[in-house]
Amino acid sequence: MNRSTAVARIRELKDALNEHNRKYYVLNAPDISDFEYDLLLQELTTLEKMFPDLASDDSPTRKVGSDISPENNAFLQFPHKHPMLSLSNTYSKDELLEFHNRTGKTADQPVEYVCELKLDGTAICLTYKNGHLFRALTRGDGTIGDDVTRNVLRIKAIPEKLKPFSASDFPYPQEFEIRGEIIMPFSSFSELNAEKEKKGEPLFANPRNAAAGTLKLLSADEVERRSLDCYLYHFIGNVPGIDTHWKALEMVSQWGFPVSEHRRLCHNTEQIMDFLDHWDKARADLPIATDGVVIKVNSFSLQRTLGMTAKSPRWATAYKFKAEQAVTRLLSVDFQVGRTGAVTPVANLEPVLLSGTTVKRASLHNADQIALHDIRLGDMVYVEKGGEIIPKVVGVDLPSRPQNALPFQYITHCPECGTLLERDPGEAKHFCPNRWECPPQIKGRIEHFMSRKAMNILGGEALVEQLYSKDIIKDPADLYFLEPHMLDTLENWGEKSTQNLLRSIEASRNTPFHRFLYALGIPFVGETTAKYLASHFESLQALKNAPVQELTEAQEIGEKIASSIRDFFENPRIQVMLEKLYASGLPLRQEEGETERVSNRLEGKQFVVSGTFSRSREEMKKLVQMHGGKVLSAVSGNVDFLLSGEKTGPSKLQKAAAMGIKTIGETDFYVLIGELSPEGTLFESEKSPTLF
Ligand code: IVH
Repeated sequence: MNRSTAVARIRELKDALNEHNRKYYVLNAPDISDFEYDLLLQELTTLEKMFPDLASDDSPTRKVGSDISPENNAFLQFPHKHPMLSLSNTYSKDELLEFHNRTGKTADQPVEYVCELKLDGTAICLTYKNGHLFRALTRGDGTIGDDVTRNVLRIKAIPEKLKPFSASDFPYPQEFEIRGEIIMPFSSFSELNAEKEKKGEPLFANPRNAAAGTLKLLSADEVERRSLDCYLYHFIGNVPGIDTHWKALEMVSQWGFPVSEHRRLCHNTEQIMDFLDHWDKARADLPIATDGVVIKVNSFSLQRTLGMTAKSPRWATAYKFKAEQAVTRLLSVDFQVGRTGAVTPVANLEPVLLSGTTVKRASLHNADQIALHDIRLGDMVYVEKGGEIIPKVVGVDLPSRPQNALPFQYITHCPECGTLLERDPGEAKHFCPNRWECPPQIKGRIEHFMSRKAMNILGGEALVEQLYSKDIIKDPADLYFLEPHMLDTLENWGEKSTQNLLRSIEASRNTPFHRFLYALGIPFVGETTAKYLASHFESLQALKNAPVQELTEAQEIGEKIASSIRDFFENPRIQVMLEKLYASGLPLRQEEGETERVSNRLEGKQFVVSGTFSRSREEMKKLVQMHGGKVLSAVSGNVDFLLSGEKTGPSKLQKAAAMGIKTIGETDFYVLIGELSPEGTLFESEKSPTLF
């Protein structure tokens, strides 16, 4: 690989890994499996070794992922006394032997190891003072962590007070730290997800995410209710006579800490391999999730000699198990149509136990994957759990194929509405093009309309499902015509729920116009485009009637978005919905104050802003809008002024001149909006109030 390709790939990998870290540690909702993540990290490590000068300190290979979310300031943060590191890991026994050879070179006698299960939960650091729990911190970014003491005190396994001295040979130090893993047992996890499913809330993908998400809840009562568990595995403190990790574990368990009994003191690599092989199978019977084995140098003095890298100790490593697989029979295939119209084939399986839960359904990805593996009805298939909620079918056991099994026929028509499916070139999935009339797509749009960043109406998938299937609403506009009696037939629903729903629908009438435009779910119109459309067109009526040409004059809007907006408003079904929205009394326009209007000096004037100014170009554009003007992206007959800073391209200036458009500079512009007198002094009386 040449250098410039490496630069690009490294950037790509770093971005991807940082985003996956955020999904994993902050959102607790990863969308790739640990194995896939580790492959990306491995690729980055290799590239950084090939091009050492391209490796920076902020690389995901050198820093641990952070669980601190910048938007979430609900917890106090405290620095860790000792950095909270991660572990190097491997999926290969050969690499494990290399780890052993490295530690052996540093030691002057045979190295002893402690093998423990790698518990799949979230790390916790506990400080005890005078035998009482003083503080509990999450790993955070490894240097500072969130203070979750209030929540940790509600986890039964974690002692608030240690056992009295006499019960132990080793008195605990006045102050010490102990670290471990907070986990959610499979049983609590299944219960929690079942409840969430009932309420139509998003499910946790795995017990790890559920544990990490629960630990960061604001309600300690809810934390207690969800029955988390904990095991401690790392004592940091000085106790005379305790010179190995093994002894430390025995000691802390006498003090009353929960320590996993599944550990072994190993004197050679055979014993380590035995431990790995045993748990690779036996973990299937454990009530908690494990994803590997941690192998730690036993002697504290050798640990100190080996030291650590920026990210992980050199005296320990993790051997990770590949995702667990199970074999079971493929009974039938359902096709799920998502809210975007994408079709996913889902396998119905003979129930089988996999990583602690019974699996009955699994994803078959798409038509290509089914063809690639030649998966047929009646086959015995391999099922695997990745980071996702739904397991995947990853292969077929060909020798056990029933004789009469026929090649799989993929569907041609939408199972929900019967429309002929389409498939875009380069896309793996088929989709139903009947965007406006296909039920899951309609329900998806209603959910989107109600979502937090849109109209923020209480609800969720389950509620929308009921409202739609019972014919109570057919589109988002119907929400504004709901009356209490219409909700009588809803299941798991009471008077209080009705009140809450109607109240939140009423409150949504005050939603800013740009969020309403976003809520409409016009394809390709995200939050940013919606903001632009709101400030430029100011009313639904104006946007609805805007010709494509006016739409594309804005820098933010390309041909694709413009024609999508046009198609949307021309659709008869949407027109019916819009009529209802007009009748509902929603303002459907930018309310006074939403654009912070400062004056009307530029009312009716259209600007193109180009070049560099003493303020940023965005600020200049905002100034135009604050004074009632509009900003277009290209010089055309509709433009009144080219607001030109330094470095405006000569072709733009020439074009403007040729079209008779007036070019003005920054100072003239300030005069125009009344910020400067024509002599260049500030108008005292008209100074714009706190512009930025
Ligand atoms: S020892 C400095 N032991 O795995 C050594 N970690 O992928 C610290 N983990 O951050 C870790 N089980 O959250 C250790 N028996 C065990 C573990 C364990 C699970 C977690 C821990 C760590 C992560 C690294």
